[in-house]
Amino acid sequence: MARKDLLDISSLTDEELMALLDNTVQMKDIFTRSVKKVPTLRGRTVLMLFYENSTRTSTSFEIAAKRLSADVTNFDIGSSSVKKGESIRETIETLEAMRCEYVVVRHPMAGFAKTLASMTGMSVINAGDGRHAHPTQALLDAHTVREAMNVTDLKGKRILIAGDIIHSRVARSTSTIFTRLGAEVAFMGPGSLLPKSEPFPQFTNYEDAMAWGPDVMYLLRVQMERQTAPLYPSNGEYHKLYGVTTERLREISDKGIFLMHPGPFNRGVEISDAAVCYERSLINTQVENGVAARMSVLYALKPEVASFHA
Ligand code: CP
Repeated sequence: MARKDLLDISSLTDEELMALLDNTVQMKDIFTRSVKKVPTLRGRTVLMLFYENSTRTSTSFEIAAKRLSADVTNFDIGSSSVKKGESIRETIETLEAMRCEYVVVRHPMAGFAKTLASMTGMSVINAGDGRHAHPTQALLDAHTVREAMNVTDLKGKRILIAGDIIHSRVARSTSTIFTRLGAEVAFMGPGSLLPKSEPFPQFTNYEDAMAWGPDVMYLLRVQMERQTAPLYPSNGEYHKLYGVTTERLREISDKGIFLMHPGPFNRGVEISDAAVCYERSLINTQVENGVAARMSVLYALKPEVASFHA
């Protein structure tokens, strides 16, 4: 793959997409060995630039980089000269001068990763930009479904994405990748949290969504921090209308539906304690596969900096 950056799923060719997913299988094989490390990126440096909080993405990128033998630097925005008004261009040129090859960036502004990529020869990996995209989440999700169903494409499969769709970069990237792999996608949630126009069926009623016949129910967190005004009456009401309650879990289990969630989740809102532990819950597998998918991305990208070619 000759690509410098990973900014979203839409810009990947079919060949690039399948290569990233197929290599994820190889990467998972590496870290289930007793020695979980290969020398592939020895001497390279991965810079973590997180302007928004993260547990899974930041940690799994760090572990992925280290399993490929790269060095990792966590850039602490709070204690950096960004707080003295240093521009992003100045920050990034400074870091490139220190001969880093990769920058993993999360920012609340849609398009930030693309802007950054235009300023540097370092490979930029979008770890989430506003409501726009979260491509490595989509890659790990697609790998998780392929692995759980033991399939290479998702033709004939139905995936219901449920919850706060309008604020979700995960919904955007994950619906794109599932569709690219041949799945049918639908959205479910309160009308106030669904997009006004989408190429997918949309359900505002839980029973109608279940009647559609999903193979996978992909739950999303209600993103309180991105709402400027309340978009539904209460968390209790949301749980009653759309949450996977203990009662609804019985039907989900009887139908053999897989449950997924990108995390972090709001227990008692979109998901119950019982649903987290459900036997066909893929939530922990998603986290595990996050490391393999991110190893695959770091392995595939080609930085355009002198140190990479030296
Ligand atoms: N899924 C996800 O992006 O989680 P974090 O916010 O913890 O990275």
